[in-house]
Amino acid sequence: MKYLLDIWRQRDKDTDGSFRTYLYETDSDTVTVASALSELNKRKELADIEGVVSGRIVWECSCMQKKCGACAMLINGKPRLACDARLSDNKSGRLRIEPLRKFPLVADLTVNRQIIFDDLRQMQVWSESDIFADDRNNTVMYEASRCLQCGCCLEVCPNFAVGEKFFGMSAMVPASRLLAGMTGSSFDRLRKQYGKVITDGCGKSLACRNICPAGIDIEGLMARSNAAVLWKWFSKRRSRHDNGNNT
Ligand code: SF4
Ligand code: SF4
Ligand code: FES
Repeated sequence: MKYLLDIWRQRDKDTDGSFRTYLYETDSDTVTVASALSELNKRKELADIEGVVSGRIVWECSCMQKKCGACAMLINGKPRLACDARLSDNKSGRLRIEPLRKFPLVADLTVNRQIIFDDLRQMQVWSESDIFADDRNNTVMYEASRCLQCGCCLEVCPNFAVGEKFFGMSAMVPASRLLAGMTGSSFDRLRKQYGKVITDGCGKSLACRNICPAGIDIEGLMARSNAAVLWKWFSKRRSRHDNGNNT
């Protein structure tokens, strides 16, 4: 099978970019975009269909098994993991491969997603106290722990922009894991942050609902996390109120 791959080429953020088309041939229908990019880069001379020779395609990968999120990019306009996108998924034989557009470009298909980790740091998404998992919260905690921080959910979110106040689902998902199991002052601190940088800014459009390559049920997780936050907050208020009445 012959594929035409329209791949975004841009040397760095200060130069103009454009799509260049490369021919890729294979007998297998299980070849992924990630494998095709690797093989193109192994060619002695990387020439497009017009014969223009260029340097290696800059792109990121690590696990090649849908585990690290490094290879997130736009494939035919949809954010996906290159190691999870088969060429044969596209029956036309032509694929458009470009970088995520919400993040600063480094080169070709590589973007700088540091903002995801900066936002988690700013939210202080770590636990300073014990976390309790039981039958009520272990589904939320397990589901949330599968986040790859790939940024696909941010790419489709109309409310997310790098450097703005709303941190998006890549922050909500790890935070909800801790919120489900935390108690005490750590819970209070994270709950306040969660309200400020997630709940207040989310328009609930659910554009991010079916995009997660890890298959996280974002809508269900959001509903369960919000319920857990409210439940814990009301329980705390109630126990304060009851203690006040007893004194
Ligand atoms: S929630 Fe899903 S899409 Fe969003 S960063 Fe985590 S793994 Fe990626
Ligand atoms: S529900 Fe809408 S606004 Fe909220 S994170 Fe998802 S895409 Fe963004
Ligand atoms: S290389 Fe790790 S998710 Fe694709």
